[in-house]
Amino acid sequence: MKSKSNRRWAAIAALVWLTGLAGCPSPPPAEKPPSAAAPSAPGVPAGRKAIRIGFSMDTLKEERWQRDRDLFVERAKELGAEVLVQSANGNDTLQNAQAENLLTQGVDILVVIPHNLKTTAKIVELAHGAGIKVIAYDRIIRDCDLDLYISFDNFRVGQLQAQALVERVPKGNYVLIGGAPTDNNALMLREGQLNVLKPYLDRGDIKIVADQWAKDWQVVEALKHMENALTKVNNDAQAVVVSNDGTASGVIQALAGQGLAGKVAVSGQDADLAACQRIAEGTQTMTVYKPIDRIARAAAEAAIKMVRGESLDALAMKKVNNGYKDVPSILLEPILVTRDNLDREIIQSGFHTLEEVYKNVPREQRPGPKP
Ligand code: BGC
Repeated sequence: MKSKSNRRWAAIAALVWLTGLAGCPSPPPAEKPPSAAAPSAPGVPAGRKAIRIGFSMDTLKEERWQRDRDLFVERAKELGAEVLVQSANGNDTLQNAQAENLLTQGVDILVVIPHNLKTTAKIVELAHGAGIKVIAYDRIIRDCDLDLYISFDNFRVGQLQAQALVERVPKGNYVLIGGAPTDNNALMLREGQLNVLKPYLDRGDIKIVADQWAKDWQVVEALKHMENALTKVNNDAQAVVVSNDGTASGVIQALAGQGLAGKVAVSGQDADLAACQRIAEGTQTMTVYKPIDRIARAAAEAAIKMVRGESLDALAMKKVNNGYKDVPSILLEPILVTRDNLDREIIQSGFHTLEEVYKNVPREQRPGPKP
C-alpha cells in the first residue's frame, strides 16, 4: 500500500506538471521525495524537521493585513514552524496560482484569506488532492470541503455597527455602503446590520435612501457612492452604515466635501489608526476592534495541530455552513469602540499609542493629566 507521504509527493508532482501545461510561470523546483530513513516531526514529510505552512493572502492593502501576516508568522515561528507567504493583490487567478505554487513547495497545510468567496474553492480541491488541509482565515470559502474557518463573528460585527448608529441617530435617512460583494464577510456584515435596523425600518423611524457595495473594499468606490447618495437626497442623510474603516475614509471624504463631516454618523471596522484618529476628532462614530493577535495566534496554533493530527474539538466549537457543509469554526468576539472606550480598548491594549491616536487633537482636549 502507498504511504500518505508517497501519495502526497505523487500529487505534488502532478500539480507541477499541470502548472507547466497551463503556461503559468514555473514554480521553484519541488523538493525531492523524502528518503525513508530521515527522521521528521509528526505530520511532516520525512527528511524535514519544521512544519511548513503556506499563507495565501488576498491583499496587504488594508492596514490590518500586515499585522495579521506579521503576528501569524511570529506565532508559527515560536512554535517551530516556517511560513511561506504570498499576497495576490486582489487577483483571483493569481491567488489560485500562488496557492498551487505553495503546494508545489511542499507546504504541510494551507491557510487562505480568500479574495473571492467562490473561486478559491478550487484551492481546497487542489490541496485535498495533495493530501493537504485548508484553513480559511477571516473569510470563509464557500461550496467546498473546507477543513476549518477562523474569524471574528462577522454577523455580530454588523450588529455592532448598526447598533452604534441607531443609538446616536434613532430617526432619519440612512445610507448603506457595503464591502466587496466577493467577500462573504461583506454579506454577513450586511445581515447583522439589517437585523438591528429592521425594527426601526418597520416603524418608519429610519429610511434607507441609498444602498451600494464597494467593489474590492475600495476607498474610491465608497467615496463615489457617497457623493452620488448625497446628490440624490440633496445632502439629507443622517447616518451611513459603512462596513470597514478603509471605506469609511472615502465616505467621510465625501461628507467633508459638503461640510458634513462630524455631523453625519458613520460606522467602520478594524480600528485602523486613521479611523481611531477620526473617532478622537469626532468625524467617525465608531469602529470595531478585532484583536488581530487573537486570530493570528489561533490560526497558527490550529494549523500546527492539524498537521500533527491533533484534535481541534476544544477550539473549533462552532459550525458555519459554507453551502457544502457545516465547517468547524473558531469565531472570536469583536469589540465595539467609540470615543467613550477608545482609551481603554485601543490605547491601553497597546493596539495604538495615545500619541498616535490623538495626534490631531489639541493636548488640552486629550484624556489623562492636562499639560
Ligand atoms: C475583513 C475586514 C477588512 C475587509 C477589507 C474583511 O473581510 O473582515 O477586517 O477590513 O475584509 O480587507
